[in-house]
Amino acid sequence: PDEIDDNTILELDPIGIICDAFSQILENLREKNKDLQSAYDKIEAILQSAPSGIVIIDTETFTIVDVNPTASEIIQLSREEIIGRNCCDFFCVESKHACPAMQNKGHVDKAERKIITANKEIKTLIKSVRPFLMHNKMMLIESFIDITEYKRMQEELVKAQRIESLSVFAGGIAHDFNNIITVILGNISLVSESIKDVNKNSYNMLKKAEWATQKAQGIAKQLLSFSKGGAPVLKTTSVIDLVRDTVSFILSGKDVVINFDIEDHIPLIEIDEGQVSQVFQNLAINALESMTKTKKLDISVKKVSALDRTKYPLIEGNYIKITFRDYGTGIPEGLIERMFEPFFTTKKHGSGLGLAIVYTIIKKHNGHIFAENHPEGGAEFKIFLPFFDKPDVRQDSVQKKHPQKNRILLMDDDEFVTDVIVAMIESLGYNCISVSNGEEAISVYQSAVDDNKPFDIVIMDMTIQGGMGGEETIRKLKEIAPQVKAILSSGYDIDNETLKELGFIGFIKKPFKIDDLKLILEQAIK
Ligand SMILES: Nc1ncnc2c1ncn2[C@@H]1O[C@H](COP(=O)(O)OP(=O)(O)OP(=O)(O)O)[C@@H](O)[C@H]1O
Ligand SMILES: [Mg+2]
Repeated sequence: PDEIDDNTILELDPIGIICDAFSQILENLREKNKDLQSAYDKIEAILQSAPSGIVIIDTETFTIVDVNPTASEIIQLSREEIIGRNCCDFFCVESKHACPAMQNKGHVDKAERKIITANKEIKTLIKSVRPFLMHNKMMLIESFIDITEYKRMQEELVKAQRIESLSVFAGGIAHDFNNIITVILGNISLVSESIKDVNKNSYNMLKKAEWATQKAQGIAKQLLSFSKGGAPVLKTTSVIDLVRDTVSFILSGKDVVINFDIEDHIPLIEIDEGQVSQVFQNLAINALESMTKTKKLDISVKKVSALDRTKYPLIEGNYIKITFRDYGTGIPEGLIERMFEPFFTTKKHGSGLGLAIVYTIIKKHNGHIFAENHPEGGAEFKIFLPFFDKPDVRQDSVQKKHPQKNRILLMDDDEFVTDVIVAMIESLGYNCISVSNGEEAISVYQSAVDDNKPFDIVIMDMTIQGGMGGEETIRKLKEIAPQVKAILSSGYDIDNETLKELGFIGFIKKPFKIDDLKLILEQAIK
């Protein structure tokens, strides 16, 4: 303007004004920079501490441009080693060059995906992806969490639930099955006893029917061994006879050469015959199924006392070692650890329960089973069963004296089962009165006591449909007569301790033959 002369200009100090303006601008820039730095720090802190893996991918080249520590931990490589690698090296391996996220315009929501880590482990992730612009380039941000452990636990849980429901199911079927077999077996043994000396031919036929029924009983036992009621009922047994009979029976007609190598002086052992026989059956069937050319099975039975403790997790003691060695395909690499798991199978129609049952049974007998491949091919299974020195003789406990007219009270809710047991008891020379539930049992027992004609023995079923069962009934009977002698009869196995705790003096497992009944009644009356 005209009124401003040179002096005025000098007074205004233009350089000073410019300097002031510059320093103001610098100050502003510094403030902005500080804001930017703090925003950057904030983002960096979030990325560094985020519990999810975060990966930034360039959509033009599909190279990884950044990762956070969680992602680098999941991938098992450092940040520097991952940056610059193609995302398909780890993610979406099978869909290389056809990015599934890009096909969906860079959007993925909580999808389950697999990842191959640097150590070639396969992990399961839950992943979300979004597109965004960075330096004018289209990028993908992928965030994910590792659910591998969670999935494994979930699978274990499902497996446990499957076993649980299967075991309840198996127990239920076996229980009904046992009642039916009790009727068949009881009737057969009654008729066969009555015609034994009259018609030898019919007697022999009935014996065959009895044998077949006992096989059916074996199947019921197989189901029970997997159910809750499958505690072993120990009996002094010759494991040699058991392994010979079972394997020969299972492999009969199968064109398999069985070589038995049995050491001398193998003692009798305390085992559940049915359950251990099932172990031998399952091993023999597996061996047969693995055979290709050489149809041969070597079975050896030996005594061992000094064990290699680094190899066998068994306590100090004496064991019988039973080895099954086949000449089949051998166990595929990496399967030895898993083959005893329930439902683990490599067979098209296998249930994968065979070895799981074997394992459970051997464990219940305080033994152990190992599997390995024989150095010269084929699989080898070694079973260790404990034994305690016992005289090598079998008990001859059948008594000769015939009991006369002792009174038996029978409680069972199944009409057919009741009929056959009453007939068996009476054919043994006892008097028998039957009732169908605990309430009736108590009232009949009370009247007998009042009439001074008490029962010598009470036989009762554990479970009574819609009525008082064995457990409650015996408690009430003991109030009437503390010295009451009661025998429990059930399709389920009961261990001796529980039996004693409940107050029973004996146990008879359904289905039973007349001889079993005779023995237990004689022992109880003694
Ligand atoms: N003698 C053997 N030789 C080679 N592999 C075996 C042998 N025994 C078992 N296996 C392997 O272990 C797996 C599990 O065996 P398991 O007996 O539990 O089930 P399965 O035989 O497959 O089915 P199932 O017994 O219910 O018919 C088999 O599928 C097989 O892969
Ligand atoms: Mg099998």
